Amino acid sequence: MSFTIRPLATGLPRFGSRVLLANAARRAPLTSVRGYTTSGGSTKKSSNNTLLFLGLAALGGAGGYYYHNSQQGVKVLDSSNKKKEIDYNQVYKDIAEILEDNDYDDGSYGPVLLRLAWHASGTYDKDTKTGGSNGATMRFEPEATHGANNGLKVARDLLEQIHAKYPEISYGDLWTLAGVCAIQELGGPTIPWRPGRQDAMTAESCTPDGRLPDAAQKEKHARDIFYRMGFNDQEIVALVGGHALGRCHPDRSGFDGPWIESPTVFSNEYFKALTERKWIKKELPNGGWQYVDKANPDVMMLPIELAMYQDKEFKKYFDEYAKDEAKFFEDFSKAFKKLTELGVPFKGDEKVYVFQKTTE
Ligand code: HEM
Repeated sequence: MSFTIRPLATGLPRFGSRVLLANAARRAPLTSVRGYTTSGGSTKKSSNNTLLFLGLAALGGAGGYYYHNSQQGVKVLDSSNKKKEIDYNQVYKDIAEILEDNDYDDGSYGPVLLRLAWHASGTYDKDTKTGGSNGATMRFEPEATHGANNGLKVARDLLEQIHAKYPEISYGDLWTLAGVCAIQELGGPTIPWRPGRQDAMTAESCTPDGRLPDAAQKEKHARDIFYRMGFNDQEIVALVGGHALGRCHPDRSGFDGPWIESPTVFSNEYFKALTERKWIKKELPNGGWQYVDKANPDVMMLPIELAMYQDKEFKKYFDEYAKDEAKFFEDFSKAFKKLTELGVPFKGDEKVYVFQKTTE
């Protein structure tokens, strides 16, 4: 894949100039809210569903391999008795190829692919062992239309061309691999990844609305949501560093703008911005509000992020990652791998892939 690399030697690149910043321009500054829905929280998973998964697993064990023919809406048994080998390194390269698009947002689909991987995974509930990237239940209503998932159709649709080329890959594997690819290709740490997610066949497996965080809430809400997945304070702060990438869209979340001036470069600039700048409240047309940087109101922070920074326990990690990018990369890689593996029924003998960045 060839990214347009523009060394931004002087000044700020224009905000929203569709310039794609790649690794070489990592430190270059560039200069859109989601009130996630909050109803519900825990789910009683249909026992039919469990039975379906168990049934499929048994079939897999017996050598058969089911896949879903979405065109005809039927389940098909592949009697070849052998699951076709998937070249995951090539899948990675093919995703890397389609990341750049100068007509989309800031020039890359990477951020929205990362958000897809996180929202597919972040529904996990460790107590009921439901949700997570296994199943890829966001393919179905009602999960596809949960308020928190606004805008993610862009990412799901984009990946259909990859799925068409590799029909044997599960959507859960494809979406998480795409998240890994986005992080790595936009300059982030390498993230070991392994296959093993199985697609759910019906909407019964959808998680209830309200499992993803609501940006308008406070630090307690962040803890409630991420503790439910099994994360600690340090892992939560590392993961939120994903906001180095991308932006908020008024028509998706209601918030508006990127967190930093280089929204297509994975770095610890998000932490530097949060901890070093003066953030002031700004009213939004939808009646909500967000923070903007006093010196550059084009960049923003969500209400929950400043609330988290005011919490003593969370604060120490925000400060640490602002000072030490290597530590942030190391911790983010571990936490993101954990996130994308929550609830996945690995057999234990899966090959772990460390994909090589196409930019190196
Ligand atoms: C307290 C936790 C979090 C909250 C409240 C939150 C909230 C939001 C909101 C409101 C948006 C804007 C959506 C839009 O309008 O398009 C967003 C975007 C995004 N989030 Fe988060 N998020 C959280 C955690 C995370 C985590 C853990 C990651 C990844 C590791 C992540 C990655 C992203 C990315 C990459 C975008 C940009 C998407 C794009 O540019 O299209 N977020 N988030």
